[in-house]
Amino acid sequence: MCGIVGYIGKKQAAPIVLEGLSKLEYRGYDSAGIAVYDGEKIVTKKAAGRLAVLENLTHSGENMPGFSGIGHTRWATHGAPSDLNAHPHTNKEGTIVVVHNGIIENYMSLKTKLTDKGYSFASETDTEVLAQLLDYYYSGNPLQAITKVLHRVEGSYALGIMFADHPDELYAARKESPLIVGHSDEGCFIASDVPAILKYTRSVYYLDNQEIAMLKADQVSFFTVDEESIEKKPVTIDWDANAAEKAGYEFFMLKEIYEEPKTVTDTISPRIRDGKIEIEGLGLTDEELKAISRIHIVACGSAYHTGVTAKYVIEGMLRIPVEVDVASEFRYRDPILSKNDLVIVVSQSGETADTLEAVRESKAKGLKVLAIVNVVGSSIAREADSVFYTWAGPEISVATTKAYSAQLAAFYLLAMKLGRVRGVIDDKRYSELMDYLCALPDQIELLLGQKEKIQHFANRYVAAKDVFFIGRGIDYAIGLEGSLKLKEISYIHSEAYAAGELKHGTISLIEPGTLVVAVATQPELFAKTLSNIKEVKARGAFVMAVAERGRKEIEKEADYVLYIPHTDPFFANSLAIIPLQLFAYYVSVGKGYDVDHPRNLAKSVTVE
Ligand code: AGP
Repeated sequence: MCGIVGYIGKKQAAPIVLEGLSKLEYRGYDSAGIAVYDGEKIVTKKAAGRLAVLENLTHSGENMPGFSGIGHTRWATHGAPSDLNAHPHTNKEGTIVVVHNGIIENYMSLKTKLTDKGYSFASETDTEVLAQLLDYYYSGNPLQAITKVLHRVEGSYALGIMFADHPDELYAARKESPLIVGHSDEGCFIASDVPAILKYTRSVYYLDNQEIAMLKADQVSFFTVDEESIEKKPVTIDWDANAAEKAGYEFFMLKEIYEEPKTVTDTISPRIRDGKIEIEGLGLTDEELKAISRIHIVACGSAYHTGVTAKYVIEGMLRIPVEVDVASEFRYRDPILSKNDLVIVVSQSGETADTLEAVRESKAKGLKVLAIVNVVGSSIAREADSVFYTWAGPEISVATTKAYSAQLAAFYLLAMKLGRVRGVIDDKRYSELMDYLCALPDQIELLLGQKEKIQHFANRYVAAKDVFFIGRGIDYAIGLEGSLKLKEISYIHSEAYAAGELKHGTISLIEPGTLVVAVATQPELFAKTLSNIKEVKARGAFVMAVAERGRKEIEKEADYVLYIPHTDPFFANSLAIIPLQLFAYYVSVGKGYDVDHPRNLAKSVTVE
């Protein structure tokens, strides 16, 4: 996510803002910028790259004198990392300056309307549209202009705003993307997160959705988006500085698991307009989508597991043949690719060497490559023919969770888009799928409420030696990811097996007390998986099952059942994976490991 810091008070603003941004570096970013009112005008400086580049540019803020300022570290969503796309963004005269964290879903339509009214744009960002829209509505009253803009925009935002003709005021607004306001004897602050201002104050106000703050050097006022004044109570922060970076979570992995509802929302909702799926940058015309004869999905690790799920979803929903490969195999097996094949590569980091080579291999064979990537402007994003960005924000923990969920959501959108274009999904089924898809974030939120129950169960397995995950169809794909999560952060040996395959050898490893996680979310395969549960129970296994709420019969066979809400079977992975991520997390915590930095692993494997 982007980082925002603002200050207005008795002290020089630039050093405070830059230091605050450095406390937010953990949030991940690719460019940074700052704006300061120097007594006459607002001076803005910004640069791609690390914060150090901006610090050098501003001599650590010394060459930007002034008592009010806003700063930003950008995690690119719209437009590659560059000086031009870095925040702050301004209106043409530079008299209105904005920093933003979030996604303005209707920025293109707003940009078109402003262009028709004579506005021009220097960057590719949605944020610059906000700055110009403020200019459009501005007639000397900042609060009025802000509220008019907030009534027009759709999506998520945390905003810091300065108006050159109101130098004694600083404004902030929030919807979905977090933003806090701080007040101390030295002045008033805004920040995306507590660490940025913890040095100056532990008394903060959390802005709620569609609330606006007006900061002066010695006071803060709050308003609704209808300009009504409101009273807010401050919260006292008792975290230590390190805990604050994780917003109070012990590890980033848990924080990122808890971000999954928003991650899925941010990935799907900007692509659904009036019930239709619009994937900008897909790079494939409807004719090309209709002509696809086969899809090759290539990725590594967890990203590969989303590809295994996508195979079941696309083949089941659309009857298009799908091959799934781990990139390290794909790139050396001289894959047989035909001209109407589509290659889809999946990568959170966009830097995985094997996956990048798969892009090159496919393009060398004359195929179009679509990349599903989380990091804007990454190598894979730049070399693929088109990119479907997941908007999961920076994922810090080595074990992926929220990016995995965003990748699944991306595949669902692609499958539904393909199904509509190819006339395979009728209106009724499309509407049904759309309802299930849009329900996923709330259902994920619901599953997060099982945290304590899962933690209690996980504590019983910190000493486990072997854990097996079994399932059929999409349940098998879910087991693949559940097993990898457990292995990579708890170092417990685990295997995922197609439930029907266990009896062909591996079942010999099942001993009394062996933990078997049976995933049974697929209605058509439920009875079969139930019989596989009986098979392992007969050999003494302890079975934890994951099933859809209501399938009570599974309690007759399994020793422990985690239920997920009802969804379309094609989307079950998005729900079933949540308890499995939490299970792996709590086993690792129970073993006292550094969950975010597992031994031998890197967040991005940029070597073969
Ligand atoms: C996931 O928990 C692992 N850290 C790893 O398998 C990862 O998914 C794999 O290395 C692929 O990374 P990418 O998505 O950045 O390409």
